[in-house]
Amino acid sequence: MSKKGFSLTSISHKYIMAAAGAFLMLFLVSHLSTNLLLLAGDGGETFDKAVEFLLTNPFIKIMEYVLFAGFIIHILIGVILELHNRRSRPVGYNVPLRSETSAFSRFMIHSGIIIFIFLLIHLYQFFFVKLGFVPKYGGAESTVDFYPMVVHTFQNPVYSIIYIVSFVFLGFHLKHAFQSAFQSFGLNHNKYMPAIKIVGTIYAIVIAVGFSIIPLYFMFLYK
Ligand code: HEM
Repeated sequence: MSKKGFSLTSISHKYIMAAAGAFLMLFLVSHLSTNLLLLAGDGGETFDKAVEFLLTNPFIKIMEYVLFAGFIIHILIGVILELHNRRSRPVGYNVPLRSETSAFSRFMIHSGIIIFIFLLIHLYQFFFVKLGFVPKYGGAESTVDFYPMVVHTFQNPVYSIIYIVSFVFLGFHLKHAFQSAFQSFGLNHNKYMPAIKIVGTIYAIVIAVGFSIIPLYFMFLYK
């Protein structure tokens, strides 16, 4: 393949990956909003109502397929781009130790792998129960009675710590992903980039801290 052909493909890969990533970032806002209802202190009543709405809404059912397609596309292209970058990276002596890119961008593949492992554990604990692949637990009355399963999960400090550590890596991943998506779409005007970076940092902190509050609540405050 010609050099030009390859770089064009890489650019379109990056574009598709950014579009999938942007969709996943919106999913996280929606997922966090629903999950924060777990903290309402009403034994899961409000959370259950939200889950019931999500489970019975046909639009959400369709979006679930789009979501998984988004995850698969984002992960596959991420791995392909990483392998391509590794192959074309100079090796041997005289390689500068520090590139112009930040630590956040250099470790995207590593934080991505940690998030992927988290996701496998997470889907096993909730989504696969809903699908009937994994038995319900924690005293849940049905496979979609998630509140008791959440309580059971987070009262185990091992799971809570795994979740919180994963959210920290998710935050680092999102911090770079946010500005990177703007760059991939060609919206990285010098004038707006500092503002985009600040908004991306705030977004990453809100997501990481917002999700982390949930296991912390069930470990220390829930009675
Ligand atoms: C404390 C944090 C979290 C809690 C309590 C939580 C809870 C849940 C629950 C109860 C479900 C089952 C809902 C259903 O299948 O209808 C679910 C599904 C899911 N979660 Fe989470 N989640 C958390 C964090 C995350 C994070 C950080 C991600 C992504 C990085 C994520 C990704 C997913 C996905 C992809 C599904 C399956 C799709 C869906 O049903 O919406 N979750 N989560």
